[in-house]
Amino acid sequence: MNIVLLGAPGAGKGTQAQKLVEEFGFVHISTGDLLRKAVKAGTRLGRQAKSYMDSGKLVPDELVIGLVKERLSEPDAKVGWILDGFPRNTPQAVTLDSELKSFEVTLDAALLVDVEEDVILNRLSSRRTCRSCGYTATADVSVCPRCGGQMYQRDDDKPSTIKERLRTYQIQTAPLIEYYRGHGILKKVNGARSAEAVYSDVKELLGL
Ligand code: AP5
Ligand code: MG
Repeated sequence: MNIVLLGAPGAGKGTQAQKLVEEFGFVHISTGDLLRKAVKAGTRLGRQAKSYMDSGKLVPDELVIGLVKERLSEPDAKVGWILDGFPRNTPQAVTLDSELKSFEVTLDAALLVDVEEDVILNRLSSRRTCRSCGYTATADVSVCPRCGGQMYQRDDDKPSTIKERLRTYQIQTAPLIEYYRGHGILKKVNGARSAEAVYSDVKELLGL
């Protein structure tokens, strides 16, 4: 099964993806995680992407699309994947569609994790992320339960950047909800409940 996760920053896309990966073994492809890895490693891509990420803007399509194409072509992606944070605008969605078509791969669902902005602001200010593996948890977790790495606060989880990320989402990413509704594959879950309650609905919606 191949899934795209949609939703505002902090809606819980990464959290639900982690759960699906743990239970079903999908490959989790998070463009945010891939970009943060490139920033940490100091690669050319990371240096180019950092200023966009720190200001809450989208990294240019030509940098992100290459990254996703490369990851989707790796052998492990054949078992089924979850795209988290991609596509992020209409050109990225159109590119993804034509790539998948050329490889005769089907996108089974676009799952929208739907959460109001006031809930999101609280979640993002208390989020902690693992420096080594990208695992996401809340501020009370100081050691990564998955790999033992150090938990830190993401550079873009500052109030001013969060506001800009939400603005970017409304202008550039939210139109994809209608895009995928038009393709007949949109599924929507109420994300403003416990992660476990959301996950139970996610599985039902996906027929898992
Ligand atoms: P990215 O890393 O994709 O960030 P985002 O979309 O802003 O989403 P987040 O990761 O912040 O939120 P999430 O929905 O995954 O929530 P999470 O599960 O962590 O992108 C970062 C940047 O990279 C972008 O701004 C852009 O610059 C660039 N970028 C990435 N992709 C790009 C692309 N395709 N094109 C161009 N640029 C791109 O949960 C948040 C918190 O809430 C956590 O603490 C979690 O524990 C908690 N939580 C989750 N669910 C629940 C729940 N149900 N109840 C209570 N708490 C919960
Ligand atoms: Mg995420």
